[in-house]
Amino acid sequence: MKMKRLFSFMAAGTIAMTMFTPPAFAAENSTISKQEQQKMINVAHRGASGHAPENTMAAFQKGFEMKADYIEIDVQMTEDGELIIIHDTTVDRTTNGTGQVSDFTLEEIRQLDAGSWFSEEYAGEKIPTFEEVLDAFRGKAGILIELKAPELYPGMEEKVAEALKERNMDQTNNGKIIIQSFNHESMKKSKELLPQIPHGVLAGVTWADVTDEQLAEFATYADYFNPNMNIVTEELVDRVHEVDMEIYPYTSRSQEEANRLFAMNVDGIITDYTEHVYYHPVKNN
Ligand code: G3P
Ligand code: CA
Repeated sequence: MKMKRLFSFMAAGTIAMTMFTPPAFAAENSTISKQEQQKMINVAHRGASGHAPENTMAAFQKGFEMKADYIEIDVQMTEDGELIIIHDTTVDRTTNGTGQVSDFTLEEIRQLDAGSWFSEEYAGEKIPTFEEVLDAFRGKAGILIELKAPELYPGMEEKVAEALKERNMDQTNNGKIIIQSFNHESMKKSKELLPQIPHGVLAGVTWADVTDEQLAEFATYADYFNPNMNIVTEELVDRVHEVDMEIYPYTSRSQEEANRLFAMNVDGIITDYTEHVYYHPVKNN
């Protein structure tokens, strides 16, 4: 196994052994070790967003409680330059407000209800700040940080780097922080600012025919190639590994899809349903 993959694998094992003994494993204690080795990295997409409103502290807490290795967060910026966590570039779908994220100040955006659209149980959930998430989950769960539409937010990479540096979270490649984006130029810039932090390139379906040359170029600044799950094939997984990158496809929403990805030997799965990545009969033989 290549060193980078071995390191990530060991880090995942440590997290898993200290934080998590899945019920299915506990019943078969004699095979825990083997099964833990078969466990892949489990990323709670926008938090455990199948169970709680995406990109809220409730969803991140749920992901943590469900023993995700990482919570995934979408970072954007307010009008007054504060980093906040929301997926869409408007607040319309996931809050009781309307309008562009970039037209709200932090104070204004914090007034919005980001939970009621999902369920009344979550009424009053707020749009979190980036720093709030870092402070709440550092040392508890890995954080997969997506810079969402950084082309709309000049200076975003610097602000993210600054927040990590203030907390000494930029120092080592310890498997706890990964930064990714669909904007690959932004990742090149971020990698220069944070050379010790692993970075990832996100790839939508238009990258179905990604070439070996393109993968090799990504590998000059990125450690992860994280594609839409619909373009993942065993051959693509092999080619990504060939250039010493790992692959975490997004976004699995069924056990069948998680199993399909697992059987193709991906390194991690980005999923709304954290529980789908706990146990994989297809690989348990
Ligand atoms: O982590 C990858 C995934 O989050 C990218 O897609 O649209 O859910 O941000 P999206
Ligand atoms: Ca995302």
